[in-house]
Amino acid sequence: MKEWLTRLTAAFGPAGREEEVRDLLRQELSRLGETDVVVDDLGNLIVSRGNGGGKRIMVAAHMDGVGFMVTSIEENGFLRFAPIGGIQVHSLPGMRLKLSRGVNGVIGQEKIKEQKSLDFSKLFIDIGAGSREEAQEQVQIGDTAVFAAPLVQERERFIAGTMDNRAGCVVLLETIRRLPAELPQAVTFVFTVQEEVGLRGAQVVAYRIKPHFGLAVDVTRTGDTPEPQFKTDVSLGKGPTVKLKDNSVICHPRVTALMRRVAEARAIPYQLEVLEQGGTDAGAIHLSREGVPTGALSIPCRYIHTPGEMVDRNDMENSVSLLLALLQTQW
Ligand code: CO
Ligand code: ZN
Repeated sequence: MKEWLTRLTAAFGPAGREEEVRDLLRQELSRLGETDVVVDDLGNLIVSRGNGGGKRIMVAAHMDGVGFMVTSIEENGFLRFAPIGGIQVHSLPGMRLKLSRGVNGVIGQEKIKEQKSLDFSKLFIDIGAGSREEAQEQVQIGDTAVFAAPLVQERERFIAGTMDNRAGCVVLLETIRRLPAELPQAVTFVFTVQEEVGLRGAQVVAYRIKPHFGLAVDVTRTGDTPEPQFKTDVSLGKGPTVKLKDNSVICHPRVTALMRRVAEARAIPYQLEVLEQGGTDAGAIHLSREGVPTGALSIPCRYIHTPGEMVDRNDMENSVSLLLALLQTQW
């Protein structure tokens, strides 16, 4: 899994520009021998398995991450930009970015009276250009950027800028690799686009595939650091979570009960998750058509939407174990 995680976290893929991530996943899926793989018109990557019993589970992990978009190029060569997805502006000055076309940049900040009045209009990207003309040789308005933060490992922890949600993509990929051919019901795995800007890819793909049950695989916040900004009972290293609620979904009790039962039967460690902010693809899936009972399995992750997103290797392993067990159970 580490090799996949290294390559996927290095792939460029802000919401709306998931091509590089999708190409990499497609390549790996074909190496795994998956034959039923399609891409829809918005760019969602759809992998179907089995047809037993006529029921179908949709399992979704988003490919996109947060990022930035260039809004204007100034006379002196500096770029103004807007966020793509939920990024805290205060963490940005000094950050290094990777722009599309392989350009490198640094975020700079104008002088402001009070640090707490900082907003995106006071920030700019420096790509080393001395004039608008020079900048325009490398960058156009609408170009996107992500944090320059390739994967590193310390002990059992992986750190990278795009763990949200390449960690989820790797869990799906590893589950697909290990899933037997015979299944109690059909499973459609979907690597979705544009989650970070409003669960948009999941919305259209759920309509397309009409699942009977839904499950999102994504990261979630932890509350196990000194004086955490967001309070939650979830810790790194104590297992995947069974999500009960976030701002986009109240998970269906039938799904959460099944997840807990399966985890307990197989002695897979898990935690219960109630997330007070944020959403996930489950939010879009459960509201599709006449409604779809949906749950979510989350990988605990510290420092979400920063270059230092951190997950635990064992949590990823246990996420795969739980997902594998779930998909081999009759829903
Ligand atoms: Co996110
Ligand atoms: Zn996410």
